[in-house]
Amino acid sequence: MATLDLSGVQKAFGATRVLHGVDLAVADGEMIVIVGASGCGKSTLLRIVAGLETPTAGSVRIGGRDVTALEPADRDIAMVFQNYALYPHMSVAQNMGYGLKIRGLPRPEIDRRVRDAAALLGIEALLDRRPRQLSGGQRQRVAMGRAIVREPKLFLFDEPLSNLDAKLRVQMRAEIRRLQKRLGVTSLFVTHDQIEAMTLGDRLVVMHQGHAAQVATPMEIFERPADTYVAGFIGSPAMNFLEGVLAGGGRAVALRAGPTIPFADGPRPGPDGLPLTIGLRPEHLRLEAGGLPLAIDLAEPLGSETVLHGRLPDGEALVIRLAGPAPRDGTLPVTLPAEHLHVFVAEGGRRLDPAPA
Ligand SMILES: Nc1ncnc2c1ncn2[C@@H]1O[C@H](COP(=O)(O)OP(=O)(O)O)[C@@H](O)[C@H]1O
Ligand SMILES: [Mg+2]
Repeated sequence: MATLDLSGVQKAFGATRVLHGVDLAVADGEMIVIVGASGCGKSTLLRIVAGLETPTAGSVRIGGRDVTALEPADRDIAMVFQNYALYPHMSVAQNMGYGLKIRGLPRPEIDRRVRDAAALLGIEALLDRRPRQLSGGQRQRVAMGRAIVREPKLFLFDEPLSNLDAKLRVQMRAEIRRLQKRLGVTSLFVTHDQIEAMTLGDRLVVMHQGHAAQVATPMEIFERPADTYVAGFIGSPAMNFLEGVLAGGGRAVALRAGPTIPFADGPRPGPDGLPLTIGLRPEHLRLEAGGLPLAIDLAEPLGSETVLHGRLPDGEALVIRLAGPAPRDGTLPVTLPAEHLHVFVAEGGRRLDPAPA
């Protein structure tokens, strides 16, 4: 087991700068999920930790040891990929033990580790099969088994569940979480799926265009997103954004849509008139008499809840999530609860909290 420390990691491919200086300190046994849109640099970061890419600047330390210049084979890591990369002509047992065989481990030791991992994963009965005789979920377990038998200091996962259907993905996600906790191996898990990220990670790294936009626990990120990118990326349906300006000596926001709403949690530092972006999660909006008129243009009944899409008189879009069934169309009054406002500076999008007392 080990800690992992990234310091100022940058990567450019020719003139294309992909990572702009990523810092991250991972505790022993921690599960960190790196989440972000396609192309933001997640795989590149993981490959740098694995030693499959060399950083343009910065360092990687595993268990306190600088491994930046070491080959992948000398880093004591195991990686699980989306496409499993199993050898088709080998049995499950041979696939799982292959890495140990080429490292020259004695046969009985390989057999023991393969048996133990197979028991852990519930695939003992499959050890003599070929990969083509397995379902997607079973193949994923074999790929996990191959990582486990190496007894690495670090597990690296690059979107390992993306090829599975939705139901199996949810099931395997829970399995990976249990297994990681049980084995206590420090892990980095890359995904573009925010639900997967929220459910798997002790902490998340939300990546945006080669930067770590925020590093925090899932609930911290959900409740106090650091900027409008993170706020819009985490949460489903996505957070609503409305335009406004700082007003009343920093004590309120004057929304373009009409009302001025006082901040429930204290005044913001900044001049009145400062352009703001106000975030409101769909589940925090209410349909109540006396609210702003919202012209509904789409209703999505999801069974246990309804998602309504509409427009305010100034043309701004709002999405509302309501428990149970809801009116399907028409113009409905919506209230914006002051205690659930997220306040961001419009330019650059960073969160604007009350000044500390
Ligand atoms: N070997 C490479 N050569 C040139 N560009 C690359 C290479 N690998 C990745 N990139 C570019 O770096 C960016 C980040 O890629 P990647 O790390 O794979 O993103 P993600 O995994 O978040 O989808 C993309 O724009 C991609 O095209
Ligand atoms: Mg990728």
